[in-house]
Amino acid sequence: MLNKFFSRFSQNIAIDLGTATSLVYVQDKGIVINEPSVVAVNQKTGQILAIGAEAKKMVGRTPGYIVATRPLVDGVVSDFEVTEQMLKYFIERVRKGKFVLSLRPRVIVGIPYGVTEVEKKAVRDAAKNAGAGEVFLIEEPMAAAIGARLAVQEAGGNFIVDIGGGTTEVAVISLGGIVLAKSLRVAGDKLNEDIIRFAQEEYKLLIGERAAEQIKIGIGSACSLNSKSETDKKKDKKELPLRGRNLITGLPEEILVNEADIRSAMEGSVRQIVSAVKTTVEETPPELLADIMTKGIFLGGGGSLLRGLDILIQREVKMPTKIIEDPTTAVVRGAGMVLENIDKLSETLSGTEEIAPPR
Ligand SMILES: Nc1ncnc2c1ncn2[C@@H]1O[C@H](COP(=O)(O)OP(=O)(O)OP(=O)(O)O)[C@@H](O)[C@H]1O
Ligand SMILES: [Mg+2]
Repeated sequence: MLNKFFSRFSQNIAIDLGTATSLVYVQDKGIVINEPSVVAVNQKTGQILAIGAEAKKMVGRTPGYIVATRPLVDGVVSDFEVTEQMLKYFIERVRKGKFVLSLRPRVIVGIPYGVTEVEKKAVRDAAKNAGAGEVFLIEEPMAAAIGARLAVQEAGGNFIVDIGGGTTEVAVISLGGIVLAKSLRVAGDKLNEDIIRFAQEEYKLLIGERAAEQIKIGIGSACSLNSKSETDKKKDKKELPLRGRNLITGLPEEILVNEADIRSAMEGSVRQIVSAVKTTVEETPPELLADIMTKGIFLGGGGSLLRGLDILIQREVKMPTKIIEDPTTAVVRGAGMVLENIDKLSETLSGTEEIAPPR
């Protein structure tokens, strides 16, 4: 009771620690932080020099002993200490100017589907050490579905695919719980790696991750959008320069790549994503499938923005497929909505200390 009383006065903060991007949502304020998940560390002293956008800027422009690390690999905490520092930095930034004695905030953190109890505890401890009062955890596909305003608590099925940087999570949700899910470590970053490998194998050109990502966003696609039309044929031939260093001569070089080249470089990974969707559909209980066939498949996460991916999934899985509104912020917005309506939505949480998991 007292707890409930106090919780009214503490701030509600939702955090999505992504492999690529971290977002923080504060009740009544909206998204207040949207920054790359990068931490710059001085390897000699172990000291953290910068976090987020500032750290990303330092990458490659600093002496060798200053390294940029990503505390999350494939969506899972790989470096506990750095993750804690990052959470601390976010929470403190949100609370700047607040009374020192004011109540500790209630924090909800999105976690990938299927993380172990040990990993959950690590995230919970990190958030507590970082200054959180109550800590809640929610599985990212659930948060994404809520952020997309799907009717997760109804008996009908909802099908959501969150394609992030490190992981693709496919989930079927019904009655406030995840009925079936798959998580694969193939997502946006793997596509960048595919492009890097392509440049290396085809042109002996060494390119950076940023260059690869720019090309992916610039001309990358999952399928030939309609190879019969003349305009698309032209688009297929649309070229962009790829700059890097020739591995043989050691000199800078620029080559031109077109949409078809990049598409075929990424084809294997794209196929893996599509096939995860397909197998999940095949394993979905028929009672839920009927619903999903009408509502369709919903795509979220930055990776869902790859041109033609929705069309390819729709074609391969034979179900209407849509990209949700504002796909990169759905997880943090959904998590925020749960915290604001905790009484009604507690069943969507992943086990917490405060509320027993609804199994
Ligand atoms: N327009 C676009 N076209 C293709 N890919 C894109 C586009 N915009 C962003 N991406 C990719 O989306 C990925 C990041 O997505 P998102 O921010 O959802 O990931 P994340 O939540 O940090 O990762 P995860 O959920 O795996 O931990 C990156 O690989 C990025 O290159
Ligand atoms: Mg994500």
